[in-house]
Amino acid sequence: SVVPDLAGRRVLISAGGTREPLDPVRFLGNRSSGKQGVALAQAAVARGATVTVVAANLEVAVPTSVTTVLVSSALEMHKAMALAAESAEVIIMAAAVADYRPKTVQLGKIKKEDVGDTLTLELVKNPDILAGLSAARRPGQLIIGFAAETETDADRLLALGRDKIIRKGCDYLVVNRVSQHEGFGTERNSVTVLDHHGVIVNEASGSKMSVANCILDLIG
Ligand code: C5P
Repeated sequence: SVVPDLAGRRVLISAGGTREPLDPVRFLGNRSSGKQGVALAQAAVARGATVTVVAANLEVAVPTSVTTVLVSSALEMHKAMALAAESAEVIIMAAAVADYRPKTVQLGKIKKEDVGDTLTLELVKNPDILAGLSAARRPGQLIIGFAAETETDADRLLALGRDKIIRKGCDYLVVNRVSQHEGFGTERNSVTVLDHHGVIVNEASGSKMSVANCILDLIG
């Protein structure tokens, strides 16, 4: 059995990938399955935490003992996270949030007969949810972000992570490499966790459940 080292802790996790609507039937999306976020929720529940998941388009089920708030777009996630953050002690932004959304959402379906051979989409930047939560952090609130990168060079990957944690202002950053074999949509993950100085505090490679427990060890 698992030691309930997170008993009574209120943990908020964002999971999945946002979808940015283009018209009533289309969206811009990403390959996040939500597996790492849901593994974090499962592991946190097993360790005694009270868990809320803000879930965007998950491909996996959330345990019934978790309070789930369903969202789809980045703007919806932004709102839901701001509200849920008011009562959270630990916030983990595991979701893949679209950096940009279509500037306008067409009311009717975009039709090729009306558009012609090329279609140009204008995108606008989404709010950075993690940076916003970090800036608004209450005393004692712990905030953990993710950085999914395709960089294969270990030193350059670390440098990207160090720049990112400064930009985001969170307490820890979980840097993970995404490829066909690990990260988005797969069963496995390998991560390096940085603290706010950019110092490596933990490394884990394996199932998303084992990676989840390694991340939760930071808050135990
Ligand atoms: O900048 P990048 O998208 O790589 O940052 C990843 C981290 O920031 C993740 O924790 C993700 O959930 C979060 N994020 C966010 N809002 C955005 C983009 C990313 O909270 N608009």
